[in-house]
Amino acid sequence: MQTTWSPSSWRQKEAAQQPDWSDEDLELALVEVRRMLPLVFAGEARALTASLAQAGEGKAFVLQAGDCAESFNTFSPDLIRDQLKVILQMAVVLTYAGGLPVVKVGRIAGQFAKPRSSPNEMIDGLELPSFRGHSVNGPEFDAESRKPDPKRLIRAYHQASATLNLIRAFTKGGYADIGQMHVWNQEFVASSRQGQQYEAIVRQISMALRFMEACGIDLRNDSHLHQVDFYTSHEALILGFEEALTRQDSLTGDWYDCSAHMLWAGERTRQPDGAHIEFLSGVRNPVGVKVGPRTAPEEVVELCERLNPEREPGRLTIIPRLGARLVEEKLPPIIQAVQRSGHRVVWVCDPMHGNTFTTVTGVKTRRFDNILTEIKGFFAVHQQEGTVPGGVHLELTPDAVTECLGGVEEVLEDHLQDRTSYQTLCDPRLNARQSLDLVFEIAALLQSG
Ligand code: PEP
Ligand code: CO
Repeated sequence: MQTTWSPSSWRQKEAAQQPDWSDEDLELALVEVRRMLPLVFAGEARALTASLAQAGEGKAFVLQAGDCAESFNTFSPDLIRDQLKVILQMAVVLTYAGGLPVVKVGRIAGQFAKPRSSPNEMIDGLELPSFRGHSVNGPEFDAESRKPDPKRLIRAYHQASATLNLIRAFTKGGYADIGQMHVWNQEFVASSRQGQQYEAIVRQISMALRFMEACGIDLRNDSHLHQVDFYTSHEALILGFEEALTRQDSLTGDWYDCSAHMLWAGERTRQPDGAHIEFLSGVRNPVGVKVGPRTAPEEVVELCERLNPEREPGRLTIIPRLGARLVEEKLPPIIQAVQRSGHRVVWVCDPMHGNTFTTVTGVKTRRFDNILTEIKGFFAVHQQEGTVPGGVHLELTPDAVTECLGGVEEVLEDHLQDRTSYQTLCDPRLNARQSLDLVFEIAALLQSG
């Protein structure tokens, strides 16, 4: 039995969900990725672990949000800026109305690879490999596009690098300044009821800040008001790529996967003895694991043992994605087993992936009501168990899409047919209005908790 971890020790284990591409082509691409600079730094990952530990104790709240699958085609500065706007706006609501600091973690700057329930897709009698994210193949349904191509990993690296560069500029260079709160309300959102509710909060915060200044408190140099810590995350799916960006920290000698601050294992790749968990067990970044309704409570404890044997606070986030119908039944035994084991994890609710369904007309969607019901169930179970609801994990986009049904400005089933506003490459996302709508509900739950 193997006892020592190395960035490549996952290769001795079974790796689920790896694309069917040639080993030689993959290795050629990885030679290049190994030469690339790290995207994030160990100290930043440690800072995130510390913030997640706060969330685990109920002293902060995690907002992990972004696209289901980032795209090579819609890559633009405006999209990155607007994605950031929505998340900053949601964070203002949670901080102000929920009364907690918000740990902001994007599904961004690297969320390019997707696990699939089926390796192939059949349309009108033609069977082709499923789309596995832009770092693997193209979404268009033709043989050329669907052929997995490892060279895409290099492009994914460069897009992640440019995206992160812009995020750093926006969050540290003035755009995330508290004085810009008004600007984060995009036009499409500002006219809605939630947009106006957000404006009311902005006015109250501005008044409070003016009051403090009038009292003689100099707020000009307080970085908390002028900069934001924004972290990146993605599913660590293509292990060769993650390995190629794993570097040893010169300060501590520890290994960090420098492709993102936080990595998670998906529901389809979290086998305790599988390659993904082996890989994540040795990098010191904070890590997450998705947990679906078929997970045995003991399996979650086993994952805690494998991923956090030293029981470092903030190191491990468990992300239940159980579905609105099952959350109140399935979550309590999982929490109880983890509590009994003495492990302390950060519990972050993913209300998206357990609530996906296909309409009779064949469109993949989620109902806003189910998303909210799962979050409410998650809070209720934690209340009952005396544990902490540490955050939420959402798929959203700033665009005025109609992919999820419902919300205050109701998206109806007919809207899903509109290909111009149903754009996702993979799972249906909340649009900016629905996102804000949801976050007001979450803030109310935090207040009453
Ligand atoms: C995802 O986060 O996009 C995803 C596929 O999730 P899960 O692994 O929970 O199905
Ligand atoms: Co998804």
